[in-house]
Amino acid sequence: MNSSFHFRCIGCGSVHESAGPDFRCPKCGDLLEITSPAWSGKPADMGRAKEWKALWQQRRLSSKREDQSGVWRFRELLPNLNQDLQPVTLREGNTPLYRLQRCAEGTGLSQLHAKHQGMNPTGSFKDVGMTVAASFARQSGARWVACASTGNTSASMAAYAARGGMRSLVLVPDGKISWSKLSQALDYGALTCQLRTDFDGCLQLLQELVRQAPVYQLNSINPFRLEGQKTLAIELMEQLDWQPPDHIIVPGGNLGNSSAIGKGLMEMRDLGLISRLPTLSVIQAEGANALVRTMRETGGARLVSVQAETRATAIRIGNPASWKKAIKVIQDTGGACEQVSEIEIAQAKAEIGQEGIGCEPASAVTLAGLKKLLQQGFVQPGQSVVLVLTGHVLKDPEYVMDFHRGELFSPTPDSLEHLRREPIVLDADLSVVLRILEQAEKQEASKL
Ligand code: F0G
Repeated sequence: MNSSFHFRCIGCGSVHESAGPDFRCPKCGDLLEITSPAWSGKPADMGRAKEWKALWQQRRLSSKREDQSGVWRFRELLPNLNQDLQPVTLREGNTPLYRLQRCAEGTGLSQLHAKHQGMNPTGSFKDVGMTVAASFARQSGARWVACASTGNTSASMAAYAARGGMRSLVLVPDGKISWSKLSQALDYGALTCQLRTDFDGCLQLLQELVRQAPVYQLNSINPFRLEGQKTLAIELMEQLDWQPPDHIIVPGGNLGNSSAIGKGLMEMRDLGLISRLPTLSVIQAEGANALVRTMRETGGARLVSVQAETRATAIRIGNPASWKKAIKVIQDTGGACEQVSEIEIAQAKAEIGQEGIGCEPASAVTLAGLKKLLQQGFVQPGQSVVLVLTGHVLKDPEYVMDFHRGELFSPTPDSLEHLRREPIVLDADLSVVLRILEQAEKQEASKL
């Protein structure tokens, strides 16, 4: 039942049976996307939608490896592996959809949810794409896989390469990724190079490298990654009983994820799995706002690159590879593109944390962006919103500690003070701890 597929250039529209090591169109050099006749809706086939929904539900009870993956469970909408091959999987996907009750207070929204992709095996949304791309890498006979990364892609790639019996080469900007992400890559056995440049420099070098060395590139330029990542949208719709929310909000870095989610939404709409499209909005950090500037200054016609700087290091990207795909998704779904400040990111991150749901700073741009979109009237009271949280709180503990110790900003803005919780060093004396507890209780009572 899997689908045969081909590669289509997003620039000139030419169609290809295979892709070269750079995953670019041999005619015009633009990015490729994967398409399959099985994913285009023909009115006569609409019955398939109902069948597929039932089949995907049924697979939840199966103990087969590919059914336990929240990605391969939807394999009718994925490119097909050779029949005798098993996917490289760590049971990715199957991530929770949480209601954000406190964050929604005072907004008038009918529903606010977080789809927490940080609950994937390596702690970020990258796993749902990596299972597909690593499986195709292994099928192609690759001995080495490689990526440039701000940390999460490298952690994910290293894990899936190890599971698939391949070696991995990681290129990360020296000093600009969190230690926890770097340590994951090391633990999973990657050959890890910290290059004296930024993410954009790493990606540029990788693209030259894949033309000269037999390594299989696993950045989101590789369209197999986006096929896996589009299942985030499918799983989300299933969790919402196939009733699309009004808005989905995602962070934007290299812009692979927004492109993938958009592709998934379009295909589901064309296949009759959902009856209408949610708007898909992309939020960036002010210091890494290439897409925002591209939209505002050129109407999306030409990429405006920036020198990126933000403490949300996952999205510290100035020259996003998938900008054209993301712009098409924003335009086709009627979404918005916004930017948020470092203070707004820190506040939103702490607020999400206070709901008992940790995420990394790059994920928190979604809540910060939602507040702006509400102010602008783009998102309206009574509507439903899903924020995509892309990474786990433990991905960047340095950021969390700096925030709570009051070292993230100097001085800490008043708007953040009530969210700070500094650790208290005390003697191991029961009466001292009791006194502290009493004080905390009094403070709570005075707030009521
Ligand atoms: N959120 C997190 C936690 C990320 O790690 C990334 C990207 C994004 C958002 C942005 O997603 O690039 O698809 O627009 N991280 C990449 C990496 C670049 O190398 O880990 P995007």
